[in-house]
Formats: sequence, C-alpha cells, structure tokens
Amino acid sequence: MTEKKKTLEVKNLKKHFPIKNGKVVRAVDGVDLEIYEGETLGLVGESGSGKSTIAYMIVGMYKASDGSIIYNGEDLTKRGIKRTKEQKGNIQIVFQDPSSALNPRRKIKKSLEFTLKLHGEVDKGNLGEKAEDLLEMVGLPREFGENYPRSIGGGERQLASVARAMAANPSLLILDEPTSALDVSVQAKVIRKLTELQKERNLSYLFITHDLSLMRNIATRVAILYLGKVCELAPAEDFFEKPLHPYTQMLLSSIPVATDEEELLRPEKVVSTGEIPSPVDIPPGCAFHMRCPDRMDICSKELPQMTEVKKGHSVCCHKYCVQKTAAEAQEEEKEVSSDEK
Ligand SMILES: Nc1ncnc2c1ncn2[C@@H]1O[C@H](COP(=O)(O)OP(=O)(O)OP(=O)(O)O)[C@@H](O)[C@H]1O
Ligand SMILES: [Mg+2]
Repeated sequence: MTEKKKTLEVKNLKKHFPIKNGKVVRAVDGVDLEIYEGETLGLVGESGSGKSTIAYMIVGMYKASDGSIIYNGEDLTKRGIKRTKEQKGNIQIVFQDPSSALNPRRKIKKSLEFTLKLHGEVDKGNLGEKAEDLLEMVGLPREFGENYPRSIGGGERQLASVARAMAANPSLLILDEPTSALDVSVQAKVIRKLTELQKERNLSYLFITHDLSLMRNIATRVAILYLGKVCELAPAEDFFEKPLHPYTQMLLSSIPVATDEEELLRPEKVVSTGEIPSPVDIPPGCAFHMRCPDRMDICSKELPQMTEVKKGHSVCCHKYCVQKTAAEAQEEEKEVSSDEK
C-alpha cells in the first residue's frame, strides 16, 4: 500500500488570548491534527469551541501561543521567520462570509487579477485570461468577472471567493463554514463544486462546520473539537457507525437523519446536563465532565489522554484510557509469562 502524503501537521497547537484582570481565554488548548493529500478533514464543534482560531493560526492570521504547524516538512511557527510568498499561497482560506475575501469596490475579475499578481503571476498580458480560467474552474461563466460582488447571488459570490483562493495555487484549502450563510438551495451547488475541484486537483481540505450531517457526505475523517481540544478523531465511516466519546454521541443523537439506514446508526438520545463552560474558566479534569452522562470520579480530577482505540480512531475520554490500561496490562502479563517460560 502506498503511503499517504501528509500535507499539514499541527502539534500541540495553542492559542491563549489574554483578557482583562490577568485572565486568559484558552481558545485552542493543545490540538494535534494531520491532513493528508486529497482528503477532507472535517473539524466540527459548537460555537466558541476554537474552530476558526485553529484556521487563523494555520493560515498565518494569528500567531500560535505554542505548538507547531508543519507544512511540507517546515515548521511555519518558528519564531522570527516570516512565511514566504509561496508558503502563504500554499494554504488558503475561504470564509463563511465571501464579502470578506472580495473587495466590494473591485470587479470580481480585478480581485482575481490582484491575487494572481500577488502570488507571482507576473505576465500582465495574461492576467485577464487567467482570471477567467479561475472563474471557469469554479463553474462560473467567464464573463462573470465583470460583476461587482454585491450584484451577484450569495452562492456565486462564495464560488468567486473560492476562485480567489485558487488564484494563489494552494494545495490546502481551509473552508470555514463556507456554506452556512447560504440559502439551502445553493449550498449543495457550492459543495458539489468544492468536491469536484478537490478531485481534479488533489486538494486537501480542512472543512470547518458545526453541521455534522454535512460531514457524512464529504469528510474523509472527522475531528470533534470541544473547548479548544480534540475529543474524538476518526475516519468518517467509523465515526458515524461507532461514535465513542459521550460528547460525539450527544451531537450525533440530535442531528436529523435522511434515511432509515442512518436512523439505525443514530445513537440513542444522549441528554447532557449543564451548560458549556467558559474557555476562561475551563474546569479541571475532562472539560466535558460536568455535562457527561457517563462521568466517573476520575473525570473531574485528571485530564484524559487521547487513546487510539482502533486504527485511525482516537478518543480522549477516561472510559477508553481505562480500557487501554487494561489492554496494556493484559499485554504486559502475556509478555511476563512468555519470559518466565
Ligand atoms: N481575539 C480574541 N480575543 C479574545 N477571545 C477570543 C478572540 N477570538 C476568539 N476568542 C474566543 O475564543 C473562543 C474560540 O473562538 P472561535 O471563533 O475560534 O470559535 P468557533 O468554534 O470558530 O465558533 P463559531 O462556530 O461561532 O464560529 C471563543 O470563546 C471566542 O470568544
Ligand atoms: Mg468560527
């Protein structure tokens, strides 16, 4: 089997925002993730869980408080080293609100030309054509570039902002809730185009959303974020068939399902108690313990460790740390008895 090529790796990534009275918002608090060539990693979490903060660090808009972001073997967080133009182009972001990526006073074609120039397309005579190629690449008519962003529909505007991102020739696109501000009728069109684009160009996607049902169709793997930490990470199939973390089960038990098959897979309704804690005041132990229907004594005292329960499927929950310890103990027992023989 050929080895999958890693596009990006983040290790122990943290972002702590100092606020008033010496307090700190622990928005991202030790995240490890890997994104492989051609795959879509879905990053899912409730509002305020730190999804956008992770995206902004990866793309270089925020400086990480700690940890590393490794692209093509190079650590982009190294102090005192600025990202090169090429590195900036390699990782692009598409925001929920496409207006933030397109200058409202410029025709779309001009915005695309600007980005092309910025990222090294210097042959001026060629710019217009290249900009139109980008529009075609995202499924928009070539003449669409003559429009201003405000005079086109939301879905088209988002596709134009994908074209703007593609003008930098990226290998990784971070999609931060790219369809959640769109009408349902155009959401599918944008998703379809993104999927096609990924296949054609072998792009890696970090797809951020709070919509788990969307992940069912497009993610290769899914990571669940809770208060700045990943609590479960699994291949999409595994994830929907056998979610392990009580928080994931809670999220999955409340999403609408489209088919009887999905209904069979849906976990029983998990009712959580309590509110999501503030990232300024994260409780000790597992941050989910106060809401967790399965909590044990240890959960309020010790941080659980990420445990790989099955190949590629990891969970950060004491229920499974204990299991691992038992499995390890068994393994050790076996080793001891074979040594004694
Ligand atoms: N500049 C900042 N200063 C202080 N706190 C911040 C700052 N930016 C984000 N936060 C806090 O960090 C936490 C994570 O925010 P973030 O925007 O990353 O969440 P999110 O998962 O993207 O949420 P949403 O789904 O609403 O977009 C939140 O508690 C937010 O209030
Ligand atoms: Mg966000």
